Amino acid sequence: MTEARANGKPILNVQDVHLAFGGIKAVNGATFDVREGSITALIGPNGAGKTTLFNIITGFYKPQAGEITYNGESIFGKPPHAITKRGMVRTFQITKALGAMPVIDNMLLAAPRQPGENLATLLTRRRAVRQREKEIYEHAYELLRTFNLESKANDYAATLSGGQRKLLELARALMTEPRMVLLDEPMAGINPSLGRRLLEHMERLRSEEGVTFLFVEHDMEVVMNHSDEVIVMALGRVISRGTPQEVRSDQRVVDAYLGGSGETEVPEGPPTPPSADGGVQGG
Ligand SMILES: Nc1ncnc2c1ncn2[C@@H]1O[C@H](COP(=O)(O)OP(=O)(O)O)[C@@H](O)[C@H]1O
Ligand SMILES: [Mg+2]
Repeated sequence: MTEARANGKPILNVQDVHLAFGGIKAVNGATFDVREGSITALIGPNGAGKTTLFNIITGFYKPQAGEITYNGESIFGKPPHAITKRGMVRTFQITKALGAMPVIDNMLLAAPRQPGENLATLLTRRRAVRQREKEIYEHAYELLRTFNLESKANDYAATLSGGQRKLLELARALMTEPRMVLLDEPMAGINPSLGRRLLEHMERLRSEEGVTFLFVEHDMEVVMNHSDEVIVMALGRVISRGTPQEVRSDQRVVDAYLGGSGETEVPEGPPTPPSADGGVQGG
């Protein structure tokens, strides 16, 4: 079932990426690629560097060394908005500020601003701007319908259940019509039926629109049943990759999980927070 997809060419290439916080080598020479149109799981014990790597790939942390290409173009050290513009997005938690807004406004805010959308355009191309607004609105409602959130459109986002909020996070990310989506533990804390719905949407977007997904997941059953490829990290590096079956029987993976994260290095000084390069945080 995954043959054609497994043959897709790499859309993302991460090469020997490093980032240390003080003495903690959070990402310590990570190398892997992600094939276009795949659902790829990133797994590994706590502290392996998965979240840090996501922050690096999407431009929120600046790596200290390495190379990252997306669609054949270097995105190394580029700010988040430049990366989003190229079609790669990650999900964001619905913050307090967003929680205080209706669901539909959350969606509209996530829409990318159009180039040249300024006062001059507004005055001279009112019709085009109105048309564009209408499209954004329709797209927002279509996504809310897809995620069974349409009836919640006018509710404050903060009133959604944890699971519905996760779906809204994904729906917001999809407002940008991405080619690649990164999800950090999308199923954490959501009930199984909403979780299934989220997985179904990922699979549908992948097969119908060729969207690529890279997701961090702890539930091994989800990883085994829903990913084409699995990348395993431990102590800041990739220690194994392959199909779910291959990875499951890899002794290095078993060892990494048994060893846990007890081997993390002791920091030599206070960790310096990385410079998250401002940019748009999805609202
Ligand atoms: N902002 C930070 N400052 C200092 N240390 C950090 C920071 N973020 C992560 N770390 C450390 O980097 C390592 C990797 O963390 P993380 O990327 O969150 O792992 P994972 O997501 O795989 O659980 C851990 O040892 C963690 O404590
Ligand atoms: Mg994490």
